[in-house]
Parts: sequence; structure tokens; C-alpha cells
Amino acid sequence: MTEIQPGFGRAILVAMTQPGYDAMADLYAETFPDPYQYPIERHAAAAFADAAAGRPGRTVDVGCGLGHVAADLAERGLDVIGVDPSAGMLVHARRLHPELPFVDGDASLASLPDGPIAAILARFSLIHVAPAQVRAALCTWAGRVDAGTPVLVAFQAADEPGPPLAFDHVVAPAWRWHPDTFAQALADAGFAESWRIVHRDKDYRFPMAQILTHRR
Ligand SMILES: C[S@@+](CC[C@H](N)C(=O)[O-])C[C@H]1O[C@@H](n2cnc3c(N)ncnc32)[C@H](O)[C@@H]1O
Repeated sequence: MTEIQPGFGRAILVAMTQPGYDAMADLYAETFPDPYQYPIERHAAAAFADAAAGRPGRTVDVGCGLGHVAADLAERGLDVIGVDPSAGMLVHARRLHPELPFVDGDASLASLPDGPIAAILARFSLIHVAPAQVRAALCTWAGRVDAGTPVLVAFQAADEPGPPLAFDHVVAPAWRWHPDTFAQALADAGFAESWRIVHRDKDYRFPMAQILTHRR
């Protein structure tokens, strides 16, 4: 059984059950052939790439999905590695971007090969991590990177300050955060905010936030 629901600003055909990204990967790849749904996302990624440029090590795309953003960052000159826990999404990432490395793993980065990390980007992936685990992951990242390392997070946002809210994401359990709450979690882990963008599209039900920080 299927229904039409809004997703990232456009209609997406979804199953009434939420079998997760593995089961949805083929449909997801058909539905989202482009890395960005809104122009502001491209600008944010470009600013992130500028911040990461010249830093030693790999830029990690956490929850890279189809790998489209990783590929865009690679075209902008970064040495990128994608990490994702969904085997189905990784099949598409490797098919679509065979020149890039992708590893099976999650936001803890436990499976990431050793080596310096130039920068970390996590777009619409930490929403699928329980809030306490997000805080733990951010602390882990802080322990693995040098001072000055840029970290960009993007997520569906909450309008009201307060703790993260569970919401009915069409693919997997998810939480949306008020930008101040997420910025505080980043600050608590050791990341200082450089800028944030909060934008709202008339076709999508939630605001979306992007926060760029640097390791203190
Ligand atoms: C909405 S997609 C976003 C994909 C990509 N980052 C982008 O911007 O297009 C969310 C991705 O997060 C991944 N994900 C889910 N749980 C995760 C976790 N615990 N750690 C890292 N990624 C996760 C999913 O497998 C999926 O590929």
C-alpha cells in the first residue's frame, strides 16, 4: 500500500510501512537524482568545501546516502570518503560514483579507516540517530579531529526551543532539533559555531537548518 507524502520539498511515493533505507534505496535513487533539493544547500556545501580546502586528511560524509554530495565535494577538490549504515544506499553510491570510497558504518565513525580527518559533513543523517547517541557521536568526532576542523550538519528543524522531537519521517525513525539545541550540543562537544542557515520552503512542512562549526 502506498501514499503520496511530501519529502524534501517534492512528492515522493512511499510505502505505508517504513522498512528503512535498504528497502527504499531504489525508489530513493529514482526520486533524488540530484545532490541538493534547494539552491541554498549547494551554497552551504560550497562554503563547507572552502572551509575544508587545504586541510590534511579526508573529508567524511556521514550518512552519505547515494553519494551525490560526496561527489560534489570531490569535484570541489576535497578527498572524500562516504560512510553509511544502509547496504542498499551504498550499492547505489558505489554504482553512481565508482571513483569514490564508501564504507559501511554509522555516525560513531567506528568503521572509518584510521587517518587524519580534514572535515566532517552530516546532512540529514543525524536525524536518524537517537539524540543521546548524537551527543555521544559528536564527542567522538571531537576526539578524532584537530583544532579548526570544520563540521557541517544539516537537519529538519523544530520551530520551538527545547529537546529534539520525534517525527514521522517516511523512511526511518527520526528526530528534529531546534537549531539552538543542536548548536548547544555541538558546543558541548567542543565545536564552535561559525554560521547557520535556517530556511523554509513553501512545499515542505519543516524548516531546515545547516550549522557550520569548527573544532575549538
Ligand atoms: C535522508 S538520507 C541523506 C543522504 C545524504 N546525506 C544527502 O544529503 O543526500 C539519510 C541517510 O542517513 C543514513 N543513516 C541512517 N542512520 C544513520 C546513522 N546511525 N549513522 C549515519 N548515517 C545514518 C541513511 O542510511 C541515509 O543514507
